[in-house]
Amino acid sequence: MLKTVKKLDKALRGEITIPADKSVSHRAVMFSSIARGKCTIRNFSSGADCHSTLNIFKQLGVDIDFVDEKTLHIKSNGVLNSDGIDLPPLDAGNSGTTTRLIAGILARQKFNSTIIGDESLSKRPMKRVIEPLSLMGAKIEAKDGHLPMKIYGQKLHGITYPSKLASAQVKSCILLAGLGAEGKTVFSEPHLSRNHTELLLDYLGADIKSEGEEVTIYPSELSAKDITVVGDISSAAFFIVAGLIVEGSDFVIKNVGLNPTRAGILDVVKRMGGGVNIINKTTCSGEDVGDIRVQYNDSLRGCVIEGDDIPRLIDELPVIAVLASQAEGETVVRNAEDLRNKESDRIKCLVYELSKIGVDIKETADGFIIRGKTKLKGGAELESYHDHRLAMSFYVAGLIAEEEIGINGFEWTKISFPEFERLFEKLE
Ligand code: S3P
Repeated sequence: MLKTVKKLDKALRGEITIPADKSVSHRAVMFSSIARGKCTIRNFSSGADCHSTLNIFKQLGVDIDFVDEKTLHIKSNGVLNSDGIDLPPLDAGNSGTTTRLIAGILARQKFNSTIIGDESLSKRPMKRVIEPLSLMGAKIEAKDGHLPMKIYGQKLHGITYPSKLASAQVKSCILLAGLGAEGKTVFSEPHLSRNHTELLLDYLGADIKSEGEEVTIYPSELSAKDITVVGDISSAAFFIVAGLIVEGSDFVIKNVGLNPTRAGILDVVKRMGGGVNIINKTTCSGEDVGDIRVQYNDSLRGCVIEGDDIPRLIDELPVIAVLASQAEGETVVRNAEDLRNKESDRIKCLVYELSKIGVDIKETADGFIIRGKTKLKGGAELESYHDHRLAMSFYVAGLIAEEEIGINGFEWTKISFPEFERLFEKLE
């Protein structure tokens, strides 16, 4: 679907509530499905990725019912596929999180399973989970480390795994395997990635401890407990950037998850001199949450984004590129080579597409460099490469481009944020 976006001739004003966090929604369904007991999950994501997770656990025999669009009941005895039936392939759709996290659960079951996915997911690297799982005793077949991935359920044993990659998906996979393995599992990473798994496993009673970049888990049983999912800061990011660059804007984004391992974009905005204020901060099912007031700012300054910053804002980098195009001076993004392994090669595709509308952006091996304060000329058709976050980032750029832009494949926004356009219209 081709979407056209025109320059906004007015400021963004008012108030919106940001829908559920994708990472937390995935985990809420997965962990409740392997926990014992009944629970209610409130404010579940309506994105297609989280529904892929949900459908897989239904296929695995878990009792999951929707009470309304965003509320579900889950009932489980903690055992998956208890009838031991031969399962059809489990379809993870477009979702890397579904694939990598459930691999850790499936590897330690008494049955075999196969995970499949769409064209984009089938190109993404799975060795990052196959290797450590194999060290734990898992038996997995995946040609060249890609889906389809056949998992032969095994008894696993704990390992100490110093990961070279800072990845919450790899970390979560190993912790979920460790939860049902023999002995303790220790995982460490070079920079701390999002810690939703650690927080939620702890909330559900797992024997888990974190110290800096290291997590230790012992085999444990989870007990079901109600979970309310906070709003997604990665979805809020598109509004934060739009508010900062659309002249005169001033609005409030309600119910945004503020977990410090996810909130790197707020630090970057501060470094750039932008105006975001947090109000009404509280906690919800173990996660920090609050409202964010965003105000337009025409004196943003470029900055360096690297190292520890990267896992804390990895998914926000495409829209941060749009923000940097409006900041004075240079913005340099380094150490973000894993962006090439997302739903698209987000370095190459972003640079190529944003250049078409006048952004001064250069590709580097592990990131990009932007010279800011450029007028975005627009007047081009941008390709989203079936990548939801590229499509939404281009929409934000279109709001300030001189001439109308087209976004090809805009329907991919449904992967994480079907409400995206409707919420923008609410502020216009
Ligand atoms: C996610 C972790 C990140 C992120 C993805 C969601 C998660 O991936 O990009 O959108 O929920 O664990 P990596 O672990 O590959 O960095």
